[in-house]
Amino acid sequence: MNVTLRQLKVFEAVARHLSFTRAAEELFLTQPAVSMQVKQLEQHIELPMFEQVGKKVSLTEAGREMQFYSRAIMQLLDEADDVLDGLRGGERGHLNLAVPSTANQMTMHLLAAFRQRNPAFTFSIDITNREGLLRRLELNECDLVIMGKPPEDAALEAVVFMDNPLVVIAAPDHPLASRKRIDPSSLKQETFVIREPGSGTRIAMERFFAEHGWRPGQGSGMEMTSNEAIKQAVEAGLGLGIVSRHTLDVELAAGRLAVLDVKSFPIPRHWYIVQRQGKRLSAVAARFREFVIGEAGQVWQIPGGS
Ligand code: PGA
Repeated sequence: MNVTLRQLKVFEAVARHLSFTRAAEELFLTQPAVSMQVKQLEQHIELPMFEQVGKKVSLTEAGREMQFYSRAIMQLLDEADDVLDGLRGGERGHLNLAVPSTANQMTMHLLAAFRQRNPAFTFSIDITNREGLLRRLELNECDLVIMGKPPEDAALEAVVFMDNPLVVIAAPDHPLASRKRIDPSSLKQETFVIREPGSGTRIAMERFFAEHGWRPGQGSGMEMTSNEAIKQAVEAGLGLGIVSRHTLDVELAAGRLAVLDVKSFPIPRHWYIVQRQGKRLSAVAARFREFVIGEAGQVWQIPGGS
């Protein structure tokens, strides 16, 4: 295929923004220069990449295919840049990490400790849920991901580095907060605020309660896409929640939430550091991975113990 990298880069920006104007701004080009690059690409490929109805730009089927490949090519070029920088002994490097909101706080502590030893590196963090993390890995959009156990059948390399117990939380004045050894079946009468479909916490919670023959949150109509929102809803007295104990240090210390003493809890889970199988990690990403596997347990302890 006789296309230039410049054409691909311009096409990728237009496809990402679905706007010639915004792509031109991002690339510091004029809009006619952007249109010209896309036109030349379309001439080589002999298919239109975009459709324009009024002001709205959308990708054609050929455009969507091309977007997939152009993105992959750009990412490989970035990867090559990082790997070569490492070979040149470069200390800088950029780490692209994706984590769930559930692991956010722990990740910040890990990054802070890592940065003390590697002050020159920069990083970007993408925060999403389990489903989003798996998609980022599939599309090669990040170097490393921190998440619960990934699916066995995915082409991923995953190493466990820490426990991630899930606990039931309540407002401290909730009648169950002072009860000991609560039977899971007595939670059936309780209202739960739950995470969205696609969340690892939700999958683990549903699996656990399915084993006890019911689904918490069913009919409560209280579903939220963030771990922070679950804690705030529980604190406000909207219901009970199930969250990672890693996310509770501030609320437990301040007495704003209580962990219920429910039999068979915590639900045992683990944090993994994950990459695509065969991915060439940049020097900084490889060092961070090693650091997490070897030292995360010294840097970050589970708040409130286990
Ligand atoms: P979350 O956690 O999707 O519930 O935020 C990630 C995970 O457990 O894998």
